[in-house]
Amino acid sequence: MKKYILLTLILTVVVVGPFVYQQWSEAKRLRYIRETKQLASQIDATSLADYIQQLKQISPDSTQLLLFTGNTQAQLEPCGCFIGQSGGLPRRAKALSYIRESGFPSLLVDLGGIQPSQPLNMKSHSFESDDLSTDNGIIMRDQHRVQTTLTAMEMMGYDAFFPFDAETGIVQNKKFDLSFTSLDSDLTQGSGSYSIKTIGGKRIAMIALNLKDPMEIASVSEQLNLIMSEVQEHSDFVVGLSHSPIEVNRALAREYPSFSAILSPSEGETERIGDVLLAYCSSKGKTLGALMLSDGVGDTPAKVQQIALTESVSDDPDVRKLLDDFYHQVATDHQFQIISHRLFSSEPLEQDDRNSYIGSQACQECHQKEFSQWSHSSHATAFNTLRTVGREYYPECVTCHVTGLGYESGYEIGNPEREHFVDVGCETCHGPGKQHAYTPLKENIRGQVPEKVCMECHTPEHSPGFDQLIEYVMSEVDHSRTELSLKQILEQRMRGPMKPEVELFVMSYCPFGVQAEQELLPFFETYGDTIDFKLRFIVGKEEASAENAGEDIRFTSLHGEPELIENKRQMVIAELYPDKLFDYLLCRADHLEEAWVHCAKDVGLDVGRIAEAVESQKITLDLVEEIQRKEALDIKGSPTLVIDGRIIDGNLWRGKVSGSCR
Ligand code: HEC
Ligand code: HEC
Ligand code: HEC
Ligand code: HEC
Repeated sequence: MKKYILLTLILTVVVVGPFVYQQWSEAKRLRYIRETKQLASQIDATSLADYIQQLKQISPDSTQLLLFTGNTQAQLEPCGCFIGQSGGLPRRAKALSYIRESGFPSLLVDLGGIQPSQPLNMKSHSFESDDLSTDNGIIMRDQHRVQTTLTAMEMMGYDAFFPFDAETGIVQNKKFDLSFTSLDSDLTQGSGSYSIKTIGGKRIAMIALNLKDPMEIASVSEQLNLIMSEVQEHSDFVVGLSHSPIEVNRALAREYPSFSAILSPSEGETERIGDVLLAYCSSKGKTLGALMLSDGVGDTPAKVQQIALTESVSDDPDVRKLLDDFYHQVATDHQFQIISHRLFSSEPLEQDDRNSYIGSQACQECHQKEFSQWSHSSHATAFNTLRTVGREYYPECVTCHVTGLGYESGYEIGNPEREHFVDVGCETCHGPGKQHAYTPLKENIRGQVPEKVCMECHTPEHSPGFDQLIEYVMSEVDHSRTELSLKQILEQRMRGPMKPEVELFVMSYCPFGVQAEQELLPFFETYGDTIDFKLRFIVGKEEASAENAGEDIRFTSLHGEPELIENKRQMVIAELYPDKLFDYLLCRADHLEEAWVHCAKDVGLDVGRIAEAVESQKITLDLVEEIQRKEALDIKGSPTLVIDGRIIDGNLWRGKVSGSCR
């Protein structure tokens, strides 16, 4: 007897073991990916909520705030490519209004560097790929971005702006109280280089400095001594705004200990030299700098923090509107859509003039397995992402979310004939494939995909931590995995900031559609709010003819008028009682032959309200939208499941669903 138990046990381990191990290692892989991403996307800054909390602990009477930004490079906002991104003008504006509401007197200063490319003296590296930015269009778009940034800064009420030399022209006619010229070795400019502002009864002197190296301090010392003695007499705090390198700031701090702080627009580590605080900015407006100046006895005189502008900080509506207007102009004016840079320009296939892009569809007939695997990956929905967030016209986004942008034969913004190049298609990784499709050889396609190809898109700025993740995610793209389950697809999509958008297309009287609801709804319900679910209906429209011209639109449905009305009812219920929709549908699935009111009453819906809404004009418009969506996705039958705008292969989810209505 014991022997049998042992044998059964061993058998169970042998049969179930590998499966359990697989589940366990997959869970471990996913956890590693999540944690690595989280860690890599963290920024060194205090959350706004924590900062406000800190302010509550101290008295506004003895503390002044100098809020500052610099080297923002006209970055309007972060791209939204990953969770935890910080920055953006609308959030900066919101953070400012919270801080101001807390009652502390404050000054707001920008330290320069608002041009999209870094000012020359701060340039650290250049793009490897070829730069097409000599074109006028790109300069126009950048100029427009700078103007938008400046307008936003006016809206936020900046008190002072200290431009780099190249920027002095662009800030003319702007409503900043002060725009400095710097104290530099060219001594003639000394006079405009400082200013004193009074806030909360305290006077803050700001001195603008631009010295190339520590040796230059000697050459301006006479003048700086003069300014110093003047400002010390008339102010409570002296703050340096410096375009000088770090060594100069350090030397200045040593020689002029009466500075409370010296602020620089470049990136760096906060340090203290004697009592002088040296503080820096985060580039591209990722954070808001906050210098706290207080005269409490025994306190350190100055303290600095960077405030994070992550998702938890909402948008200021007026600045949001300003940016939306900017994007709208880019979307509607081709002049703004010129491409600034293209990917893979160092790869041989891309450089070969005889080669061109042909689109992923053309690879499908010979590489069905790879195609099917790819079509369930998030690369295959990359353009849908841009459509969802409304950036499908913005070149700064399109480059990495399509195939071959900037190449003669690749994607072109707004050109309907190039629609087949949306998404991160086969040819982004494997190179343009026209020659290969005509004459399939290993030599005319990129068979081994080097990591550097991935890294052209998965840059630290758009995909932090990816270099550590690459070997863990390669199996998701190299076509080596067996088909994913629906659960795996959904959970992969949930790793990013976007919720998966799930659409189930049915006809309400189609028995297979109903089976699909029974199969899938309980499963989707477990995901609650973490997915966006929408039930969609397959309806048609009668073509306008001489007979029905001028009449209302006439809709058609495979199972006739009763189905059309049930479709409408379900649309109404989805809108009026979103939480009860699944209950109603599942009840109907069992009682389709009976009157709908039974189910409606069973789950607690107001029958009269529904009947009325079904007759409304709005429902007609909604039906037109259903038809458009069905046509856009080329939906053929009920049921069809779509995630993020891509049809999901029936094999992955049909279960007991035994057919379809066409
Ligand atoms: C042309 C640009 C581009 C290239 C090249 C590229 N990717 Fe991507 N990748 C993207 C974009 C864009 C997304 C996000 C798509 C979406 O969800 O909208 C993405 C998403 C992913 C994801 C899913 C991320 C997640 O956690 O949800 C993985 C994994 C991935 N890529 C791996 C790779 C690997 C490995 C390579 C190289 C073999 C590669 N990618 C090459 C642009 C690219
Ligand atoms: C340099 C290439 C690149 C550029 C430029 C780029 N993206 Fe991305 N984007 C990616 C990659 C790579 C991912 C996947 C990141 C990851 O998960 O690691 C991604 C992911 C996303 C996601 C998350 C998708 C999801 O499924 O959760 C959104 C949203 C997004 N990008 C929007 C934008 C917008 C808007 C812009 C322009 C402002 C933009 N991207 C510009 C490469 C890029
Ligand atoms: C995100 C990058 C990426 C995309 C997009 C991509 N592939 Fe691949 N593909 C790979 C990688 C990585 C390998 C494995 C290469 C290696 O072994 O070094 C691969 C291998 C292949 C192979 C070789 C045979 C095999 O299965 O190992 C074929 C064929 C192929 N891909 C076809 C396609 C087709 C067709 C598409 C579009 C439907 C596509 N690939 C999209 C990255 C990609
Ligand atoms: C007419 C059929 C056909 C079409 C269309 C086709 N391929 Fe191929 N592909 C092949 C054949 C056959 C091979 C194997 C060649 C060999 O072993 O010499 C191959 C091999 C490959 C390989 C592996 C190369 C290697 O080094 O192992 C990749 C990657 C690939 N194809 C990608 C693509 C992509 C991307 C497209 C679409 C742009 C495409 N193929 C279109 C037939 C095709």
